[in-house]
Amino acid sequence: MFKTLILYSTVDGQTQEICKRISDTLKKTGDAEIFNISEASKIQLSQYDGFILGASIRYGKHRSDVFNFIKKNQKTINIKKNAFFSVNVVARKPEKNSPETNPYMQKFIKLSVWQPELLAVFGGKIDYPKYGFIDKFMIRLIMWITKGPTNTSGTFEFTDWDKVDHFAQKFNQRLEN
Ligand SMILES: Cc1cc2nc3c(=O)[nH]c(=O)nc-3n(C[C@H](O)[C@H](O)[C@H](O)COP(=O)(O)O)c2cc1C
Repeated sequence: MFKTLILYSTVDGQTQEICKRISDTLKKTGDAEIFNISEASKIQLSQYDGFILGASIRYGKHRSDVFNFIKKNQKTINIKKNAFFSVNVVARKPEKNSPETNPYMQKFIKLSVWQPELLAVFGGKIDYPKYGFIDKFMIRLIMWITKGPTNTSGTFEFTDWDKVDHFAQKFNQRLEN
């Protein structure tokens, strides 16, 4: 039975939700454990067969904890079946929702010393009521510029859960081969 570590870097929890969904799929035939990347020091990476890292975008960036973890664990990650996914709202646009067309994934590939075997990009969630004043103002401005939803009393989820399931199945197939 294969065991996969799923790590997430999140601010508002959507990346963690996606990790839970991936874990549900992997647990049908194997084992999976989910951790916040902030708990990375507690994890023994060597005990896993698979490694998946998911990270969200805020103000155009994946957080530095993502790159720090990768740098520190690059060698161990590379001897496992491995995958990376990015969560952002630019990915709600069909022409920007693949690893090849999403600007944040392209930037990640350039910045990261780890080149993952499997990549995915998922649309995130805009939860206006949850945000503080400045974040709400800024994300509304970004949405207005990019023709997204601007109603600040609303919550808008762009995650394609079938796509998440498909990614998890694809990763599972790699584990088993
Ligand atoms: C303050 C703020 C800034 C954001 N900046 C960007 C951005 O620059 N580009 C983008 O595509 N999405 C951006 N997003 C959307 C997030 O990527 C999206 O909400 C995602 O679901 C967050 O995932 P998390 O809950 O796991 O942190 C931003 C969201 C917030 C609240």
